[in-house]
Amino acid sequence: MDRYYPSGLDLGQIDTPAFVVDQAVLERNARIMYQVGVESGANMLLALKGYALFASFDLLRPYVDGVCASSINEARLGREEMGLEVHSYSPAYSRESLAGLIELSDHVIFNSPAQWQRFADLRNSSEKVSFGLRYNPNHSETDVALYDPSAPLSRLGTVKDQLPPNFIKQIDGLHIHNLCEKDAPALQRTWQAVEKQLGSQLEHLRWINLGGGHQITRDGYQQEVLIQLVQTIRERYGCNVYLEPGEAWALESGYLVASVLDLHHNQAQLAILDTSASCHMPDVLEMPYRPDVLGSAEAGVKEWSYRLGGVSCLAGDVVGDYSFDRPLQIGDRLVLPIWHTIPWSKRQLLMASAYRLFISPIHAQVNCAACAVLVIRISRGAYHNALFVFRNEQYQAAGCSFSRNSCASGAKCQLWCRHSPWS
Ligand SMILES: Cc1ncc(COP(=O)(O)O)c(C=O)c1O
Repeated sequence: MDRYYPSGLDLGQIDTPAFVVDQAVLERNARIMYQVGVESGANMLLALKGYALFASFDLLRPYVDGVCASSINEARLGREEMGLEVHSYSPAYSRESLAGLIELSDHVIFNSPAQWQRFADLRNSSEKVSFGLRYNPNHSETDVALYDPSAPLSRLGTVKDQLPPNFIKQIDGLHIHNLCEKDAPALQRTWQAVEKQLGSQLEHLRWINLGGGHQITRDGYQQEVLIQLVQTIRERYGCNVYLEPGEAWALESGYLVASVLDLHHNQAQLAILDTSASCHMPDVLEMPYRPDVLGSAEAGVKEWSYRLGGVSCLAGDVVGDYSFDRPLQIGDRLVLPIWHTIPWSKRQLLMASAYRLFISPIHAQVNCAACAVLVIRISRGAYHNALFVFRNEQYQAAGCSFSRNSCASGAKCQLWCRHSPWS
């Protein structure tokens, strides 16, 4: 098996499809993050939009200073399941969502001075929350526009020419999230742009949050550059510094394990898996990415080639074209180390949104001679859309029922609850 696969894990023990988390790798990452926090003085937050498998929060808690949340239910997840500081940001708030977030958060970050002004009454009625603004440095470091907060016309954060005079004096902190899967020099360049634009105004801040997108746990990441930069900012401006990566906490720790449900032919050999690119690996279609499948090669390289497709009824629900040393058989398990090859943050939107819908992934712990993994079962049985079934199962457990009138996306759903899932 490949180097990242938990040695000795018996695939037969896993009820597919499932996300499998290697706890040893997760802890290795957490120790690295903790050490960077200690040496730099940064507060290390976990971005729940990047990693929200709360079955593993007991393992992570000793290494984490808090979480960052992008919705009221993520904030609730952080408060209730992690029990540490909660830092919340969303590109816009409704009055209702902001009131809820203020209840649950330690820091709340606005996207614009207009929203800051509009909700002055809510801000003023809260004594315990520290409020900040997301700043857009207009400095691109990310090639793919989909993931670039500094892309032209970006709605994420306020650019310099939209900052009212003296506005920075009114806020406690500044939030700058500008990176995706980057090394420390990209943060250095971003910070230089911010300093050039804002200069001595930065001296008024109590905290600076440098966002996520730092691949701190990746082999070769220049940790000493990050540590030095954070120390310099803390000393120069006398403020606290926060980092809020998601992916780095979980890098290389997880797999999607799927089974072959059927073999089919239409001009080429097709294998239908009990997973779905659109439901479980949305970046495969959005980016697009080609996930690894352990033991496979590009189509045509090995003797037996297949197009791997998902079990949803979306025509384009295709994982990719692969070849194998032997013919695939119904029931074969395939292991996709997707959290290694696909940005974890986007991958985990599924899990984060799961909590937004008040559901908890079903999980089990599987131990083998040399490993301990968490198995998060993401769906079961015959379904058109795994996410829908996943939600449905959990809603039923919460005393709700679900009816669906869209086959492909599961987006058009109706929900009836006898009582609130929270009550
Ligand atoms: C505001 C914010 N903070 C943190 C993160 C986490 O980023 P990553 O998982 O790439 O470290 C994201 C990801 O999109 C984000 O938008």
